[in-house]
Amino acid sequence: MKLCIDSADTVKIRALYEMLPVDGVSTNPTILARANRNPYDVLKEIREIIGEDELFVQAVSTEAEKMVHEAERILSALGERTLIKIPCVPEGYKAMKLLSERHIRFIGTAVYTPMQGILAAKCGAEYVAPYVNRIDNMGYDGVHVAGVIHEAIVTNKLTHSGLLAASFKNAQQVLELITLGVKGVTVSPDILEAMLDNASVDAAVTQFQKDFAGLCGPHTMLDC
Ligand code: G3P
Repeated sequence: MKLCIDSADTVKIRALYEMLPVDGVSTNPTILARANRNPYDVLKEIREIIGEDELFVQAVSTEAEKMVHEAERILSALGERTLIKIPCVPEGYKAMKLLSERHIRFIGTAVYTPMQGILAAKCGAEYVAPYVNRIDNMGYDGVHVAGVIHEAIVTNKLTHSGLLAASFKNAQQVLELITLGVKGVTVSPDILEAMLDNASVDAAVTQFQKDFAGLCGPHTMLDC
């Protein structure tokens, strides 16, 4: 299971990379707009932080051929370990077929329905990104939709593909997808931080420190 950070906040990405076993960073045009800097400046800074890990960058053109040109520019600026995010819309599928022919790695994104995800996998997408929470917000079950795509990929032996489930609003949604055995999840720093924040764990660790101080004073296992 891959764990990616869904953000372009370089301060948070750096901090989370130091703390957690992170596998990559995903962005989208909205995330880049939040950073409010030249997209390539931010993305190059992210590339420096994450080294050769996977970086996901979206093409914004609405025509397939232009998406492919964007993909080539993105790869030349950010390296071969960069995957191009292509929205699962008609022109996007066309772009996916062209990218496949050129052996350019890509992910099918903005996935709200099972068929969108399955078609992207069939077009050669290395990942498919169902928007779990946004599907929930529409009154459907985002985890279920993601699960159906995962199952279809496994059952049909589309082994080049898998889910990079996205758009989470809580840790439970993330946990349910990981339990299904998806290829990866991409999670915002806020959700990752919330996962780490647990008052019961903090209380247990504080009690351990108190008990050890009662035994050995201001020492640790290094010098007691
Ligand atoms: O990568 C897609 C994801 O960023 C969408 O998330 O939170 O805007 O629904 P959200």
